[in-house]
Amino acid sequence: MEPYLLANTSVLVTGAAQGIGLAIASALAVRGASVGIVDLKGAEAAAESLTAQFPNQSFAGYELDVRDAEAVTGAVASFVAEFGSIDVLVNNAGTAARIGIDEITAGQWQRDLDTNLGGTFNFIKAAVHPHMLDAQAGAIINISSISGINGGAVSEGDAGARSGPAYAASKGGIIALTKWVAKEYGRRGIRCNSVAPGPVESALTVGQSYDTSGQAIDRMGTPSEIAEAVAYLASPGASFTTGQILRIDGGAVMS
Ligand SMILES: NC(=O)c1ccc[n+]([C@@H]2O[C@H](COP(=O)([O-])OP(=O)(O)OC[C@H]3O[C@@H](n4cnc5c(N)ncnc54)[C@H](O)[C@@H]3O)[C@@H](O)[C@H]2O)c1
Repeated sequence: MEPYLLANTSVLVTGAAQGIGLAIASALAVRGASVGIVDLKGAEAAAESLTAQFPNQSFAGYELDVRDAEAVTGAVASFVAEFGSIDVLVNNAGTAARIGIDEITAGQWQRDLDTNLGGTFNFIKAAVHPHMLDAQAGAIINISSISGINGGAVSEGDAGARSGPAYAASKGGIIALTKWVAKEYGRRGIRCNSVAPGPVESALTVGQSYDTSGQAIDRMGTPSEIAEAVAYLASPGASFTTGQILRIDGGAVMS
C-alpha cells in the first residue's frame, strides 16, 4: 500500500480551537486535508491560523454549541456546501465535571452527558444522514477516554486527579455508540472508531495531579500523540478497521 496522505479530504473536527482538537486539526492539515473547526469560541481564529500555515488548503470555523442539534445540522450542511463533502468527522468536544456523586448537581451531570455523548450523537446524525450515506463513504472518529473503560481516576480529598461520574458515563456511552454506528453503517462504506486517551496535558487536566507510575510509559501524553492515532483512523490505511477503541494511554489499560 502507498503511504497515505489526506489530500482532497474534507474533515470536520469539534472542540478544535485548542488542546487535543487543535492538534488533530493540525495533524490532518499537515497530511493535506481541508478542515472545518467547530468550537464554542476561537474556531474562526484557529481556522485563520491554519490557513496561514497551509495556504493551498481550505479551512473554516463554526462557532456553536455541540448540544444544539439545529446549529449542528446547519453547520454540517454549510460545511458540505463549501467543501463539497464530509469525508471525516472527529467528535472531540468535551467537558469534565470532576465532582463526586454526592455533590454533582443534575445540571452538571446533564452538561457532560449532553456535550460529550449528545454532541457526538448530534454530529453523527447530521453527517451520516444524508451526506456520508449519499457518498457511501466516511470515517468517524469519536474521542472517548480510558475513563469510559475503567471509570477514570478517583482520589480521596484534594490530592491527586479525579474523574467524575458523568464524564465516565458519557465516555462509556461514546464507546458503545461507536460500536453501534460501526455495525449499522459498515456495509454502506462508513467506518466508525474511537480513540481513548489516557491523561494528556491540556486545559482539561491543568491543576490535576495524575499518578502515572502504574503506566508502562510513566508520563502524561501530549495532544499530538492522540492526533497521530486519529490521523491513522481517518486514513485509507485503516480501511479494514471499524468498531475499534484505540487506547493511547502509555499502557495504563491493558487487556
Ligand atoms: N486531556 C486529557 O487528559 C483527556 C483524556 C481523555 C480524553 N480526553 C478528551 O479529549 C477531548 C479534548 O479535550 P482536551 O483535553 O483537549 O480539553 P480542552 O478543554 O482543551 O478542549 C475541549 C474543547 O471542547 C470545546 N467544547 C466544550 N464544550 C463544548 C460545546 N458544548 N460545544 C462546542 N465545543 C465545546 C472547548 O471549548 C474546548 O476547546 C475531550 O473530549 C476530552 O474528554 C482528554
